[in-house]
Amino acid sequence: QEEERPELFPFRGIHMVHYFTDNWDQVEAFQARPDDVVVASYPKTGTTWVSQIVDLMYCLDDPSRVHRAPIYERVPFLEMSKTEDFEAGTTILDATPSPRLIKTHLPVQLIPQSFWDNNCKIIYTARNAKDTAVSYFHFSRMNKIQSRAGTWPTFLEEFINGEMVFGSWYDHVRGWWDKKESQPILYLLYEDLKENLPREIDKICRFLGRELSVADKQKVVSQTSFDVMKSSPMANYSTCSAMDHKVSPFMRKGQVGDWKNHFTVVQNERFDEDYKRKMEGTTLMFRTDI
Ligand code: PPS
Repeated sequence: QEEERPELFPFRGIHMVHYFTDNWDQVEAFQARPDDVVVASYPKTGTTWVSQIVDLMYCLDDPSRVHRAPIYERVPFLEMSKTEDFEAGTTILDATPSPRLIKTHLPVQLIPQSFWDNNCKIIYTARNAKDTAVSYFHFSRMNKIQSRAGTWPTFLEEFINGEMVFGSWYDHVRGWWDKKESQPILYLLYEDLKENLPREIDKICRFLGRELSVADKQKVVSQTSFDVMKSSPMANYSTCSAMDHKVSPFMRKGQVGDWKNHFTVVQNERFDEDYKRKMEGTTLMFRTDI
């Protein structure tokens, strides 16, 4: 039996579902604070991982506090509108004491002006396109607030065409890459986090102007491993009623290169050829295999 799913529609130059536009007036007028830290990303690229890392860094005096609430309450989702389960992101954030951690999937051109005016620090995480597409496909199957996933071949075609909630991956990663020249943006790669988490945690510390003891850094590393997060109800979204983890778990595989289990040879050739065109002229490089 077919369940109800929201429709995708064009919105300010990208595609969206109503869940992320219903509260747009408040999103656009959102008042940032100078000590806000924003965790920004295209969907399925390591948002929850980086959110968990940063939240843990903020509560190292009592690391058990990282289990105080689900990740979507500890790092509220700016553009999420009010639903049966949640208040709107902006409502939650207005009531959150500083320093706030804020999640967003908005492309750089739709970020509320107040974040730029306040020179807020933004950590952007990107992931190679092929693994992002695969992760997004499985997420769209299990998450009822996403538009219908369809089959893998049709989903992949829509991904290539940018017909995704939050728009084109290509425009998103390039837009943020260019913006870091003029704004305080730390640009991380999922593949780098996988390759050497302690090194990437050092980068985050330097960016946020924090110092961690060796023991504290070890705590952050161990508490943010895939297995620990997958088994934690406060990190794995098992408390979120919009998601059906029987269809596909939120913490699915957490690997680099799972795309090879999904792309056919023909799909891969078509993807690479289109990719070259869309990514021409950028210095941004991804690894698809580590
Ligand atoms: S969302 O819904 O956009 O916020 O999703 P997001 O958190 O950006 O991405 C989910 C994918 O990240 C993987 N993940 C991790 N990988 C490695 N280590 C850790 N700790 C970790 N936490 C989350 C998660 O498994 C999703 O990727 P896939 O490939 O689907 O497994």
